[in-house]
Amino acid sequence: MTSWMEKIDAAPADALLGLMLAARADERPQKVDLSVGIYKDELGTTPVLRAVKQAERHLVESQSTKAYESPMGNPLFCQAIANLVLGEQGDRHALFATPGGSGALFVGMRLAQALNPRARMFLSNPSWPNHMGIAKSLGIETVFFPYEAQADGTPDFGKIVAGLEAAEAGAILLLQGACHNPTGTDLSADQWAELADLVTQRGLIPFVDIAYQGFKIGLEEDVTPVRAFLQAVPEAIVSYSCSKNFGLYRERTGALIIQAPSSGTLENVRSQAASMVRASYSMPPAHGAAIVATIFGDEALRALWQDELNSMRERLTQLREGFAAALVRATNNGSFEALAHQAGMFSILPFRQGGLIDLQKDEGVYIPGSGRTNIAGLPGDRLDEVAMRIAPYLSLEN
Ligand code: LMR
Repeated sequence: MTSWMEKIDAAPADALLGLMLAARADERPQKVDLSVGIYKDELGTTPVLRAVKQAERHLVESQSTKAYESPMGNPLFCQAIANLVLGEQGDRHALFATPGGSGALFVGMRLAQALNPRARMFLSNPSWPNHMGIAKSLGIETVFFPYEAQADGTPDFGKIVAGLEAAEAGAILLLQGACHNPTGTDLSADQWAELADLVTQRGLIPFVDIAYQGFKIGLEEDVTPVRAFLQAVPEAIVSYSCSKNFGLYRERTGALIIQAPSSGTLENVRSQAASMVRASYSMPPAHGAAIVATIFGDEALRALWQDELNSMRERLTQLREGFAAALVRATNNGSFEALAHQAGMFSILPFRQGGLIDLQKDEGVYIPGSGRTNIAGLPGDRLDEVAMRIAPYLSLEN
């Protein structure tokens, strides 16, 4: 009898998750895991936020049923995220709780594909690898536009616009809100406004992925340019992750916001997306969304969460500035200005050919092949030591 499974080749390993597991298995006490994007505190742990713990306690006591919600998930959660992202809203947004930001990316891309089956997706080079992974799983062709950090840490916008010249009407344009993963290099408010014009004139479908709200300057400030962008474009898709800003990584808590061109078309768009959800994971997990809804339903909890988020951001900014200065000392080279000025968890460091493999083997420092370094994973009291260990593996010719 034919065995169909014998014909299957092994899938290529997910480089980032593979590195995370390799770092966990490394027993060297001096190991430093700067791979997967999780926040670590000064003790090197990723604790459950106090606001989250309190909300969970409240949920255990008060929850009276585990009956199904709906493909849209918890409406209080959805509204809270819509308020965070959009501020004032009209009546043309369909809201979904999703299994993490990836669930929102999956459903959003599936919807864009249904709107235009031949849609290609334009995304930055580099981007988060799973952006391409999800598009590929749906059979969406991806096209990269250059997204290069200049010496001062700002993007080369001319190259971005030139790279988008090939985008045809109906193509998806994937953009990231504050704290671009993996570069830490963000568009300015003026550049967001220029892209809004470009998207509208060319009839592109903008897709904004927001995974780090509150990690750059503040909750409001981080979405201000995105809000203006969304107000300026007729239709849009937004994916949102609560992994980082609520520390809910493993709870898979995210949201999808679909901005319809008018209230008249909203119901058609919502029902199409709902049937896609139903036919894939049926309904989103409830726990993480209930935690966020509980935090937003209680002023004191919300204030506690904002304090905790502010502390994470402040620590991250200190680590970033401290690490850039430590690298200058360790290399005698002043070329880390971009690192100091970029935002969020990541920046790309320039490693020499094979440097990252040697660094991992010799020093137990884990950084993915792109050189994307998780600043939030650095031990704050050992920045000079880590910089000294990394320095010999860098390539600082430029
Ligand atoms: C990352 O980029 O490291 C995170 O978003 C985690 C992940 O799932 O890749």
